[in-house]
Amino acid sequence: MEILHVSAECYPVAKAGGLGDVVGALPKYQNKMGHQSKVVMPMYRTKFLYQNQFDVDFKGRTHIGDYWFDFTIIREKTRKLGFDLYLVDINGLLDRERIYGYHDDTERFMAFQVAVINWINHWEHKPDVIHCHDHHTAMIPFMIQHCYEYNRLANVPTVLTIHNAQYQGWMGWDKSNYIPAWDPWKGGLLEWKNTINPLACGIRCAWKVTTVSWSYLDELKYMSNGLEALFEYEKGKCVGILNGIDAEVWDPATDPMISTGYNPDTVEEGKAASKKSLCAEFELDEQNPLIVFIGRLVGEKAADILPDAILSALYSMQGKVNFLILGSGEPHIEWQLNQLKGHFPGNYNVFIGYDEALSHRIYAGADFLLMPSRVEPCGLNQMYAMKYGTVPMVRNTGGLRDTVTDMGDWQGWGIRFNHASVGDVTYSVNRAVEAFADKEHLHWMRQHMMSIDHSWENSVQQYINVYQSIKP
Ligand code: ADP
Ligand code: GLC
Repeated sequence: MEILHVSAECYPVAKAGGLGDVVGALPKYQNKMGHQSKVVMPMYRTKFLYQNQFDVDFKGRTHIGDYWFDFTIIREKTRKLGFDLYLVDINGLLDRERIYGYHDDTERFMAFQVAVINWINHWEHKPDVIHCHDHHTAMIPFMIQHCYEYNRLANVPTVLTIHNAQYQGWMGWDKSNYIPAWDPWKGGLLEWKNTINPLACGIRCAWKVTTVSWSYLDELKYMSNGLEALFEYEKGKCVGILNGIDAEVWDPATDPMISTGYNPDTVEEGKAASKKSLCAEFELDEQNPLIVFIGRLVGEKAADILPDAILSALYSMQGKVNFLILGSGEPHIEWQLNQLKGHFPGNYNVFIGYDEALSHRIYAGADFLLMPSRVEPCGLNQMYAMKYGTVPMVRNTGGLRDTVTDMGDWQGWGIRFNHASVGDVTYSVNRAVEAFADKEHLHWMRQHMMSIDHSWENSVQQYINVYQSIKP
């Protein structure tokens, strides 16, 4: 099957979070199963591997509203990624340092989507499936079905994967002319609560919708930032498929970003060596259990409770536990986390910023990984942590609920709690400190976690089943 993934992120070219990891891995594993899977994404000005090794595949000119622009489709030509990668270059719009966060993101991602369908419309054949990811690409199913210019593509099946329904891409009706001339009878498909809502439009128009875990799909019917009724109505076309992890990137036995490789048999020595160098790097006392947080410092991840929760745990544990944070996000959270720094030497440190290699060293060197997320559609961090023998401490929600079992009575290998609150986190830290003291139990958990199969192969087959189910 020929599958074209359309996404705003793809590792290792541009990644802001898990979306990048998924789109950098899923197509590779689809290809390993004999399919022809490709990715098209914007060409930002981010620095990445294989830079400058490109061919021009197509040049075009199109417009959003009155704004006409030239675009170039560039093909990455080393073919080392495991899939064909195409980048859309639009001068002045997409060529920025960051992926998101500009005042004209609506224009940027509408122009990207229009360029992509304009390009596909020039192919001699048609792809078997167009697979869109999140709201930045969710207008494509509508545009190919209801825009006159792209009528030739109207019967190409589309799948929309929702990685995060919090962000929907809302835009005012004054921007409706960004969409190429469309059938006026279909305007209702664009609207949700008086605005154009690209994610809602994608949910209605895609042939199938997938979410990145089963529990998240359930939760969306009760809590999806205003789309609850739509998810209830469209539940028949929605499927939950858990993300996998890319074992070629995330395996402590082969990871070039960590200094001492290890496997389940050598986990104790491997983690001890990683922890030693990590603690030296961040001036932490290596005798204490090390609890870490890696991620976006935003409300969704409950990063706002971290300063108080850490303070409470450090006082109640009287210096018998360490915390290390890697993240960036809302300035007031960054500021508070930085403020704590001087007060607990040896027990607390923070690195504000984005650092891929450091994240690998932390997964390897930590004892526990904390994820108090209010919303977690899947979550990859907890799966990476488990693969590196690091015990996840997670709130019972979304993909965290589906991937982490509680360690109580030696039944599982994680710590679960119900509320994104200082109280629940402090209590879980107490449990972590106790678990750390029981070396036999800790070793058993580490070995078991590392052996869990979170590979992509299972999930890839489920995606293929979805595509097969909509094949015309
Ligand atoms: P989300 O996509 O919601 O941010 P996920 O758990 O799916 O959450 O994926 C987060 C990904 O981003 C993981 O690969 C994680 O290691 C990485 N990550 C998040 N913040 C940072 C950071 N500051 N530095 C390096 N990697 C980070
Ligand atoms: C989103 C979600 C995260 C998920 C990732 C990849 O960013 O917040 O939970 O793991 O997408 O699907």
